[in-house]
Amino acid sequence: MKLFLIGFMGSGKSYLSKKIAQRRNLDFIDLDNWIEEKAQLCIAEIFRQSGEVGFRDWETKALKAMQARDNIVVACGGGTPCFNNNMNLINKMGLSVYLRTPVSLLLQRLGSETAHRPLLAGKSAEELEDFVRYQLKKRTYFYEKAHLIFDQHSNNPEELDRLDSLISSHLKKN
Ligand code: S3P
Repeated sequence: MKLFLIGFMGSGKSYLSKKIAQRRNLDFIDLDNWIEEKAQLCIAEIFRQSGEVGFRDWETKALKAMQARDNIVVACGGGTPCFNNNMNLINKMGLSVYLRTPVSLLLQRLGSETAHRPLLAGKSAEELEDFVRYQLKKRTYFYEKAHLIFDQHSNNPEELDRLDSLISSHLKKN
């Protein structure tokens, strides 16, 4: 069993992946953390030293390392599915779920969480909104290649139950 949670920054990939892993007795892997450990650098420093292209190479390397793992829930980075044919690799390796989240909810969550995200750092509220809308439009094409789409409506804890049921009913059918 390999589960990949994908979606924009602020869609709750890490939080929900961790919870789903606990419920299903699977290992939780955060792709950004995996990269930081292997590179011995934080994401912002990788961007500074090697640029976005260097970081995207790390993401593909991290994904490929998941081929050797089993019984995992992987929280991908927001851009992971959108570069280097990664979405095809994700879909070949396991079950992918796109956490589709309204822009208003993303902005609410990202407002105070921009410092450690190099793509968002230093943006005003208006610039952040423009950036999120623009990137989301570009990235939706990749995100919607996921096996399952979970429409997230709020921060309510019941969202976790809904997500878990969606995964269960897919697994029962297949
Ligand atoms: C990125 C999202 C980040 C991280 C990096 C780039 C993106 O992960 O991988 O800052 O391109 O959307 P989160 O989605 O976990 O914030």
